[in-house]
Amino acid sequence: MEQTDNSPDQTGTGNQANILSGAHDLNIMGSTFTTIGRDANYTYNSYLPESKPKEITADDLLLQKPLAPDVFMGRSHLVEEAVKFLCEANQVHIAILGTGGIGKTSVALHIMEESLIREKFAGRCYFIPCEILIDATNLIQGLVQAIGVQPIQGKGSYELLLDYLKGCQESLLILDNFETSWNSKEQMEIKNLIERICSSRLVSVIITMRGTDGPGQIKWRKLGGQSGLPPLELGPAKEAFCSLSSDGNYAIKEDDPMLEKLLIQMDGMPLAIVLIAQHARELPLKNLMEMWNIQKTAVLKRIGGQDNRLTSVEVSIELTLNIVREKLSTTGLDLLRLVAFLPSGIPDWLENVPKMLGSLPDTTMQVLTLKKSCLIYEANAETLKMLTPIAEYVLKVSDITENHEKQIWEFYKSFIDNLSENQIDEDIKLGLHIANIFKILNIQIEKSFETSHMNVLNQLCHHSQYFPGLVPLVEKYLRWQSQMSLGDQTELMFLQ
Ligand SMILES: Nc1ncnc2c1ncn2[C@@H]1O[C@H](COP(=O)(O)OP(=O)(O)OP(=O)(O)O)[C@@H](O)[C@H]1O
Ligand SMILES: [Mg+2]
Repeated sequence: MEQTDNSPDQTGTGNQANILSGAHDLNIMGSTFTTIGRDANYTYNSYLPESKPKEITADDLLLQKPLAPDVFMGRSHLVEEAVKFLCEANQVHIAILGTGGIGKTSVALHIMEESLIREKFAGRCYFIPCEILIDATNLIQGLVQAIGVQPIQGKGSYELLLDYLKGCQESLLILDNFETSWNSKEQMEIKNLIERICSSRLVSVIITMRGTDGPGQIKWRKLGGQSGLPPLELGPAKEAFCSLSSDGNYAIKEDDPMLEKLLIQMDGMPLAIVLIAQHARELPLKNLMEMWNIQKTAVLKRIGGQDNRLTSVEVSIELTLNIVREKLSTTGLDLLRLVAFLPSGIPDWLENVPKMLGSLPDTTMQVLTLKKSCLIYEANAETLKMLTPIAEYVLKVSDITENHEKQIWEFYKSFIDNLSENQIDEDIKLGLHIANIFKILNIQIEKSFETSHMNVLNQLCHHSQYFPGLVPLVEKYLRWQSQMSLGDQTELMFLQ
């Protein structure tokens, strides 16, 4: 295989060096954020000294096309919606967006398989794996090869492509993993190209892309909501898990409470579910849960093969981090860690982020950048959240600093002090933050003895629904008994 340019912006597949081996540390405000990337990109080439662009062939494209997965749960309504859009209009442009491993390509492949789509586009439905098309020229080559446009002497590939699209019958182009082409150095050219393609009257386009926005000035119909595909609900996640692990040593029942616990940790990310389910063929759920508790995302990988974005959750997350890293300031990196650290996320973020991190001028822009990358998302009550596997990985490569821990603790101390008198409002507000409060309080109690811990415990004891979470904290606090006044000891015993 000939060699292409190994420039930093390029991503693709092929020579998949262990991305973690390229890790280096950025020291930011006393904390360390491990970044991986410039020297460990996924490029469609081998690392040879000479660099000459590789011609994309039809075989290259075919080799990159996966089959629609047999186990495919909880997405049929989205496939139906897309089929309806495509069959009702002469031309429609659909964007399947979302975070890495959320199942974008799988949805696109299932749409292609639908009989109505096969009928409508009879032989003119083309799958273009953009992760090997790393600039505008490559993308044009890929399109020409996928469609099978015949060369004509004296005409360039782009001209040929446009001529074809102008004169063709209804066609469907599926541009898969478009983020690779889009994040190349030639974004402007690629924008012009995709806008030209989408303006061809009888050409419909499905794009799959990491992020929350489709490319260019095109009226994309987004499948699954404004932020892209949502995670799988618990029901379909269980079905997928049981189906994927069913031919192993262990028969797993959907109503096994351990399965629910484990899947809550996967947070509906199909890639994580697929990867943990393969281990369940050989290990009981209890052991899998223990492995997860200790090793976290390191468990979410296929054993024995090469690591790539479909066989390792860590590699998948790294690809997004690589794309977004250049756009993040220190504030953005701090935010990333903060959202990862807080299990309830950051409710009412416009008000609370400045209170937690301090008022920094670029906070809002950095939140928007992170949201667009799909590393974080906005849930109910304007809460910034992160899927659990992503959060665990972010914390693994770069935990929050003591300083930030202190800031979070200060925030929650005053949050608890300022809770309103109105019991219902108070309960709702507290409920949004409770997992964060438990986490930070646990860390604080572990570290040192302070009477402010006791005050927070006391306040929380007015809310009986949180007793199960409070009991271990009160017990932990009692370890500092020797340093407490007699009055505090008695009060604590009473609480206990
Ligand atoms: N609905 C589903 N049910 C079960 N498994 C699924 C589902 N959707 C996707 N998967 C599996 O999850 C894995 C990731 O899916 P897919 O490649 O479609 O994700 P993606 O969003 O396109 O990822 P990337 O951003 O890396 O391209 C695959 O192994 C796929 O088979
Ligand atoms: Mg994909």
